[in-house]
Amino acid sequence: MMVCEYKPGLEGIPAAQSSISYVDGQKGILEYRGIRIEELAEKSTFLETAYLLIWGELPSKQELQAFEHEVLHHRRIKYRIRDMMKCFPESGHPMDALQASAAALGLFYSLRDLHNPAYIRDSVVRLIATIPTMVAAFQLMRKGNDPVRPRDDLDYSANFLYMLNEQEPDPLAARIFDICLILQVEHTMNASTFSARVTASTLTDPYAVVASAVGTLGGPLHGGANEEVIQMLEEIGSVENVRPYVEDRLQRKAKIMGCGHRVYKVKDPRATILQSLAEQLFEKFGHDKFYDIALEVERVVEEKLGSKGIFPNVDFYSGLVYRKMGIPTDLFTPIFAIARVAGWLAHWKEQLAENRIFRPTQIYNGAHEVRYLPIDQR
Ligand code: ACO
Repeated sequence: MMVCEYKPGLEGIPAAQSSISYVDGQKGILEYRGIRIEELAEKSTFLETAYLLIWGELPSKQELQAFEHEVLHHRRIKYRIRDMMKCFPESGHPMDALQASAAALGLFYSLRDLHNPAYIRDSVVRLIATIPTMVAAFQLMRKGNDPVRPRDDLDYSANFLYMLNEQEPDPLAARIFDICLILQVEHTMNASTFSARVTASTLTDPYAVVASAVGTLGGPLHGGANEEVIQMLEEIGSVENVRPYVEDRLQRKAKIMGCGHRVYKVKDPRATILQSLAEQLFEKFGHDKFYDIALEVERVVEEKLGSKGIFPNVDFYSGLVYRKMGIPTDLFTPIFAIARVAGWLAHWKEQLAENRIFRPTQIYNGAHEVRYLPIDQR
């Protein structure tokens, strides 16, 4: 057997062959099925981009309408799921609530027919349609309110914001939210996608695949960083405090949240688009002083860490966009999951098409031939 060099974090080790997305970390390029994200952010919608990623091509007008129609008609969640969610502690993190709810969906659809395209399509539609409803339902229930029903006259993103805030969103905010979902939907072999593919490779159901990926996305080194960025900006408090804050953290070898990336060695192209979306929101709905602090953090980080290739990543400005929309900080990562579920499902489908169960190896560095010591001799 070939012995490979051990790479912590599997850095640089290909875990799959994939045609879903492509990143050039030196040039700051991200493509979905070969199309640059800048173009999709300008011209596409989240559901169209999800279709592109999962089925490999942009849909025709009829295909898109059919997909949108199916998603629209699967947005309600079963009352038993709602009742289960009512028992969740309101102090619990919404990512944990989402992980449990996504896994619970599998209880209702336990028939597994992984080689049937109709099963794949139904599962894709159901997950993309219900994840936002579950996120919004938990948000209302933890405030002591009943969840609201999805509104059939609102599109995907506008409906989510409506279910979250119980009022129809401003059209600009809804469009910007939709673009945020496009930017967060997919990103090659990151930790949660790897997690999804490992789970998929066992031929379990797609609800378990999504639940495992949600659990992985929640950590502060991955999707959870967007929450921590806002906490960091709150802690800094003013533009003058930025430099001493950054210097102090670097001295203590602590990370600056929302900066740095395993692949990008330049500014993440998603951060650039999110920054311009944040600016559009500030222009229409008023300035946010946290933006000035963020700009200064970016400046100081570039000065101190630019030579190491550390610049803002996708999480750096997404929180500022969601904050301006009045979304609570602990929902930023569940919103990331609303988007990313389509990327995970694209990888699920791709994994099934050429499956081999993941079974890496390890380098054992423990003891051998150790004798069992009876308990009274330890
Ligand atoms: N602040 C300060 N220094 C950093 C940062 C940062 N945010 N990121 C990396 N570095 C430094 C490390 O200290 C290390 O320095 P050294 O070589 O002198 O020891 C060097 O850059 C390499 O860093 P690693 O952590 O080894 O890089 P890795 O590729 O393993 O990690 C990661 C990438 C996890 C994203 C890291 O940059 C990080 O922790 N960033 C902050 C958390 C964050 O924003 N996560 C979101 C990532 S995007 C996403 O998941 C959606």
